[in-house]
Amino acid sequence: MRAWIDGELLPEPTGPAISVTDHGFTVGDGVFEAIKVIDGLPFALDLHLQRLARSAAGLGLPAVDEEVVRRGVSAVVRDQDFPLGRIRITYTGGPAPLGSGRGDAPPTLVVVAAPLSPFAVTTAVATMPWPRNERGALAGLKTTSYAENVVALAEAQRHGASEAIFANLAGHLCEGTGSNVFYVVDGELRTPTLDSGCLAGVTRRLILEWYGGREVDEPIEVIAQASEVFLASTTRDVQAVHRWDDRPLIAPGPITAAAAEAWREHEPELLGF
Ligand SMILES: Cc1ncc(COP(=O)(O)O)c(C=O)c1O
Repeated sequence: MRAWIDGELLPEPTGPAISVTDHGFTVGDGVFEAIKVIDGLPFALDLHLQRLARSAAGLGLPAVDEEVVRRGVSAVVRDQDFPLGRIRITYTGGPAPLGSGRGDAPPTLVVVAAPLSPFAVTTAVATMPWPRNERGALAGLKTTSYAENVVALAEAQRHGASEAIFANLAGHLCEGTGSNVFYVVDGELRTPTLDSGCLAGVTRRLILEWYGGREVDEPIEVIAQASEVFLASTTRDVQAVHRWDDRPLIAPGPITAAAAEAWREHEPELLGF
């Protein structure tokens, strides 16, 4: 693991680094990105940096200096030869008073790279009783306020699942704690629209581009009619779902397998700095 903060590599990557008053630490006032690394090369770096800029703007943080972030990214992956890894970029409000109001200090920028174990080929998911708020101020932003996801994931794990799935306030299928959802009904691949409040996943976008699928918002109960389901995320790529709550599913089904194949074909196109 290697960590870089505000222009410097840390001598000890897990050692103390940020102020105890950092607004990211005290109130979750920050945004982040997780980027896959294959053989030392970041995947879809430009798309992740674009989303980081959008998330920061959505939170009202100062604009991200993309060149500085790129320097951090190359500092943490340079000469590291893990075959599979993850870069995490975190950009917060910086040191601030102890309440919700921001201070005048500059933002904090942290870039970390660590090896990543490949996800299982298939997985189980569990539906959560708590909704995503598609009308909230943070809807669609990748912020560090992830405690709802932490609680949900722990609940999913109690049900033997590796991902927790949310409906939104309208009762429509939305997303997982760290993934977008695709499903097949009547032979058609579908995924919730961005209006559902789901994150605009980089993987979701590329699957729609490279394989196709229809964006549509439907009650979460539609999953009872799905013949296939898969999760899409930076760490899972295309991951078939073999069980949704108590319902077994064929995994991977033919459309999931075809989407995964399209992914493997195109992935090398977006590897690099
Ligand atoms: C809430 C949420 N939805 C979806 C995703 C998938 O996005 P991406 O494909 O960009 O990793 C993530 C990624 O971590 C996420 O946190």
